[in-house]
Amino acid sequence: MKLTTKLGLTLLAPLLLSLLTGCERPPIDTVQTGFRGTGMEQVYNPRTLLKQASLNQAPAPAEAAAADGPKASQVYQNVQVLGDLSVAQFSRHMASITQWVAPDAGCAYCHNTENFADDGKYTKVVARRMIQMTQRVNQDWKTHVADTGVTCYTCHRGNHIPANVWFAPKDRKNANSALGDLAGQNIATKEAGLTSLPFDPFTPYLKDAAAIRVNGNEAMAGVGAYANRASLKQTEHTYSLMVHMSESLGVNCTYCHNTRAFQSWEESRPQRVTAWHGIRMARELNNDYMNGLTDKFPAERLGPKGDVAKVNCTTCHQGAYKPLYGAAMAKDYPELQALAKP
Ligand code: HEC
Ligand code: HEC
Ligand code: HEC
Ligand code: HEC
Repeated sequence: MKLTTKLGLTLLAPLLLSLLTGCERPPIDTVQTGFRGTGMEQVYNPRTLLKQASLNQAPAPAEAAAADGPKASQVYQNVQVLGDLSVAQFSRHMASITQWVAPDAGCAYCHNTENFADDGKYTKVVARRMIQMTQRVNQDWKTHVADTGVTCYTCHRGNHIPANVWFAPKDRKNANSALGDLAGQNIATKEAGLTSLPFDPFTPYLKDAAAIRVNGNEAMAGVGAYANRASLKQTEHTYSLMVHMSESLGVNCTYCHNTRAFQSWEESRPQRVTAWHGIRMARELNNDYMNGLTDKFPAERLGPKGDVAKVNCTTCHQGAYKPLYGAAMAKDYPELQALAKP
C-alpha cells in the first residue's frame, strides 16, 4: 500500500511540476505594438520563432530569361495563358513551377510527356487556373499583398497540395452518440486553435459572407442561415475565426485590436485593415477559383462533403505575420504579376 503511494507520488511529481510551470518554457519576449498603457503587446517565444524562421525561407529566384525570340504562342500548340512570354521565359516558368509544386515528380506531374500540349492530366488543368489565380492576387489584391505579392511557392512550398487547406467538415449531428449533438463545436479542434469553439469558422466567413460581429446594432437582426450574428451562440464563430487568424500569423489579438474595444477601427492598428482585405481576398479565391475547379479534381482530393480544398489565412501565412517573412518573390516572376491579355 505504502509502496504504491510512494510510486504514485514519484510519477506525479514531475507532472505537477510541469503543470505549475505553465505550458511554455521561458524565456518569453514581449514587444510593445500600441500606445503606452494600452497593453497592446506581442508575446513571442524565441524558440518558436527560430523554428518558424527555417520554415519560411524563400528559395533563390531563377536566373532571368531573354525576352526576345519567338513567343510561346507561336511555337507551342496549347498555350492559353502565358502565350506572350518568349520561349526562354516560358521554359523558365515551367522549371520554376516544377520546383515549387512538384520537385520530385517533375514535368510528368502535369504533363503527358509524349505530348506536352495534351490537357489529359487534371493537374495541368488545375495549374493553368492556378496561374490565373496567382496573377489575380498580385494584380488586384495589392490592398492585401502590397508589392510583396505571392507565387505558387507561397502556398505550395514544394508540395503538390499546400500543407494548410480546409474543407467543409462532416456533419457531427449524431444525437445517439455518447457526445450527443455537438452543435458544430464542443470538441477541441486544430481549426479553432484547440479550443472548443465552432470548428468550422471558414464556411460562414471565408466562403459565405456572414457578418463578422459580436456587437449587434439591431435586436434579432438578419434573416436566413446567418440571422442574428450577434447572438451569444453565433459570436462564438467570430471568436473561432479570430483564433484562426491569430494562429496563422503567429500573433496575439493585440496585433490588430486594442482589446479595450475590439470593434473600434479608430483604436485598431493598420494591420487590421490589411486583414479585413485578406478576408475578402480569401473569400474570392475560394468562390471564383477553387470552387470552379471542383469537378476537375478526382474524388479522393475532395472533402467529406464533396467540396474542393480551399484557402484560409494559414495556406499562405503558415505561422508568419507576412508569408515567408515578407520576401518579395513575385517581383522576379513578372508573368505572375499581371493578368495575361485574353
Ligand atoms: C504544375 C504543373 C506543371 C508542371 C510541373 C509543368 N508544366 Fe508545362 N505546362 C503547364 C501548364 C498549365 C501549361 C499551359 C500553360 C498555358 O496555357 O498558358 C503548360 C504548357 C507547357 C508546354 C507547352 C506545350 C504546348 O505545345 O502547348 C511545354 C512545352 C511545357 N509545358 C513544358 C514543361 C516542362 C519541360 C516541364 C518540366 C520542366 C513542365 N512543363 C512542367 C503545367 C505544368
Ligand atoms: C493561395 C494559395 C495557392 C497558390 C498561390 C497556388 N496554389 Fe495551387 N493549390 C492551392 C490549393 C488550395 C489547391 C487544392 C489542393 C488539392 O489539390 O486538393 C491547389 C492545388 C494545385 C494543384 C493540384 C495538385 C493535386 O495534386 O491535386 C496544382 C497542380 C497546383 N495547385 C499548381 C499551382 C501552381 C502552378 C501555382 C502557381 C502558378 C499555384 N498552384 C498557386 C492553393 C494555391
Ligand atoms: C490579423 C488581424 C486580427 C487579429 C490578430 C485579430 N483580429 Fe479580430 N478582427 C479583425 C478584423 C479585420 C475584424 C473585422 C472583420 C470584418 O468585419 O470583416 C475583426 C473583428 C473582431 C471582432 C468583432 C467586432 C465587432 O465589430 O463586433 C471581435 C470581437 C474580434 N475581432 C476579436 C478578436 C480576438 C478575441 C482576437 C484574438 C483571439 C482577434 N480578434 C484577433 C482582425 C484581427
Ligand atoms: C494569397 C496569400 C495570402 C492569404 C490567403 C492571406 N494573406 Fe495575409 N498577407 C499575404 C502577403 C503576401 C502579405 C505581405 C504584404 C506586405 O508585404 O505588406 C500579407 C500581409 C498580411 C498582414 C499584414 C502584416 C503586417 O504586419 O503588415 C496581415 C495582418 C494579414 N496578411 C492577415 C491575413 C489574414 C487575417 C488572412 C486570412 C483571412 C490572410 N492574411 C490571408 C498573403 C496572404
